[in-house]
Amino acid sequence: MKESEIKKYYKKKINDIKSHNKYYFDKSSPKISDKEYDKIKKEILELEKKYSFLKNIKSPSNTLGYTPSKNFVKYKHRVKMLSLSNAFDIEDLENFEKKIFNYINKKIEIEYSVEPKIDGISASLTYKNGLLVMGTSRGDGTTGEVITENLKTIKDIPQKITNKDFPKDIDIRGEVFIEKDDFNKLKNDFANPRNAASGSLRQKNPLETKKIPLNFVAYTYGYFQSDKIKKQSDFLSSLKKWGFKTNEHNKVLKTIRDLESFHKKFENDRFDLRYDVDGLVYKINSLDLQNRLGFTANSPRWAIAHKFSADSAFSEITDINIQVGRTGALTPVARIKPVNIGGVVVSNATLHNEDEIIRKDIRLGDTVKVERAGDVIPHVVLVDLKKRKKSSKKFVFPKKCPCGFDTIKEFNKITKKYDAVRRCPDRGFECEKIAVEKIKHFISKEALNIDGLGKKVVEKFWDLNLIRYPQDIFYLDYAKISKLEGWGDLSVSNLKYSIDQSKKVSLDRFIYSIGVRHIGIENAKLLAEYTKSMVNFLNFIKNKNFNEFLNIDGIGETQINSLKIFFENKSNYNIIEKLSSLLDISDIKKNKDGKLLNVTFMITGKLVDMSRAEAKSLIEENSGSVVSSINKKLKYLIVGDKPTTRKVQQAKEFGIKILSQKEWLNLLN
Ligand code: IVH
Repeated sequence: MKESEIKKYYKKKINDIKSHNKYYFDKSSPKISDKEYDKIKKEILELEKKYSFLKNIKSPSNTLGYTPSKNFVKYKHRVKMLSLSNAFDIEDLENFEKKIFNYINKKIEIEYSVEPKIDGISASLTYKNGLLVMGTSRGDGTTGEVITENLKTIKDIPQKITNKDFPKDIDIRGEVFIEKDDFNKLKNDFANPRNAASGSLRQKNPLETKKIPLNFVAYTYGYFQSDKIKKQSDFLSSLKKWGFKTNEHNKVLKTIRDLESFHKKFENDRFDLRYDVDGLVYKINSLDLQNRLGFTANSPRWAIAHKFSADSAFSEITDINIQVGRTGALTPVARIKPVNIGGVVVSNATLHNEDEIIRKDIRLGDTVKVERAGDVIPHVVLVDLKKRKKSSKKFVFPKKCPCGFDTIKEFNKITKKYDAVRRCPDRGFECEKIAVEKIKHFISKEALNIDGLGKKVVEKFWDLNLIRYPQDIFYLDYAKISKLEGWGDLSVSNLKYSIDQSKKVSLDRFIYSIGVRHIGIENAKLLAEYTKSMVNFLNFIKNKNFNEFLNIDGIGETQINSLKIFFENKSNYNIIEKLSSLLDISDIKKNKDGKLLNVTFMITGKLVDMSRAEAKSLIEENSGSVVSSINKKLKYLIVGDKPTTRKVQQAKEFGIKILSQKEWLNLLN
């Protein structure tokens, strides 16, 4: 059989299993016997084994079949289930600590709770009055699936807790996983232990879950109110006392050097463990300090995952393609002969940028070592020079973007070096590659979050000329779409619905969605809080008042320059104007229950043990606001060390109350 025929046959089998899954899971009325079903599944797995070019996310090797999210009731977590940012080396750890010191404006000795990071899937268990009342999956972090009955089949999960110290209302969180030996028995059915745990846990029928030996270790909490427990390590001890399993290798360490040497040792020893561990988690042990540090958009400031080195394999580069990102960065990507790395078939690996290709002298036809760690994109580590063909030539990085523009390398005034990245200079929508990436960003999860309009659909709609600019999404030709392959009346009406829903968006998400370089979610939030409404934000842009944003803690020259360049481009400006009339952009909602409601503050001078950013979030958490210029509406000026004399003087003239840091903190209690 030719490759194309094999692919066609494989696709048919995947579609068969998809439709049988639907009958079985959604409609609970299977059309074929279990035996016949298993036969199709086995055939798919055998095909995948035989032909490494076959893969499909709907394959039973990735899940147990049908994406079950539609089958479970959704639940909005009381406290979000966030993920952790990753560290790969000591430099990343030092940066992690440095950021903490900056935030609290003080260098201190930090104690860490060190916990092995088991590679499974997280779950949240809600206990009320000692009874397990609900169990959920992580989902997208905000909303999970209710999988209580499936979780109840896991022997490590207590269903009733009688210990008198056990909190009356608490979410216990931890990892569901399968041990290596058990996985080996099932390895023909799943790509890796993580998939096995996930597939099994999300079975519609809990009896199916019970068939696979799952384990649970507890490591944190979601909703929980207590002032008795002061340290993460004490919380872990309490978990044990209450009847949960915790990891036997959890420990407390102090300096980064200790973390590093424990990591080195554990990395070697981990192969003797009964389960897969992909790194160590370091959490600041003091819960008070954790609370003070809080979260960024996706992860806590007080914890980090220190990953182990990745799995790797050798393969041959068959092609090098240039991808253009939303900000114009040209990223070279190596197409390699498909190779299995740690249970995942890899056929692309990033080469990062032009400088990296030159430094490693990577060429077409080279045999290279490719590494893959967790969900990070696989990358080329080195070239096996012994295998290099005599005829091979240095790779010439294209100086033009595929759109035709001459590319540039920017000069960084701070490092006094040229950027390693080559960029297409277009800032608007002239470069087709950039334009399509901008639209993908616009619809992405953290931006407008349009269900049913994923990246692949955007590409398809782009190719069909259905969209050229973000606003086109709101004028889609649905009649045309319903005639496309893979689309039907139901999927079109679902798409219409989610596009309509997405029109209601908060100002911070909107600012993020327009995709200005250097304006990520955090900075978008700062700009939204400062400008307060879309009308104001537009006025700032119209009047080119960007320098005023320098008043915002966290916004600097880099961001301001980027905003200026972005809005100098006419098409960007026009798009924002169009979108502002099409969308319902809500002002940033403030907490209205705090004791500082309607009280305005300004801060001058350096504060003790606290950065401006932290002071600002403390004020805002209590419903107050921080302004950047002195006017009559200002109630208090907080004066730290070495204040600006002019500001203090002005405040006195206006009769504004002046507070020391201590007096201000007293106000907050
Ligand atoms: S704490 C806000 N502790 O790693 C902190 N996570 O990327 C949330 N994980 O989704 C998690 N072991 O699935 C924490 N000891 C541990 C962990 C752990 C494994 C997983 C968990 C989480 C992911 C974070």
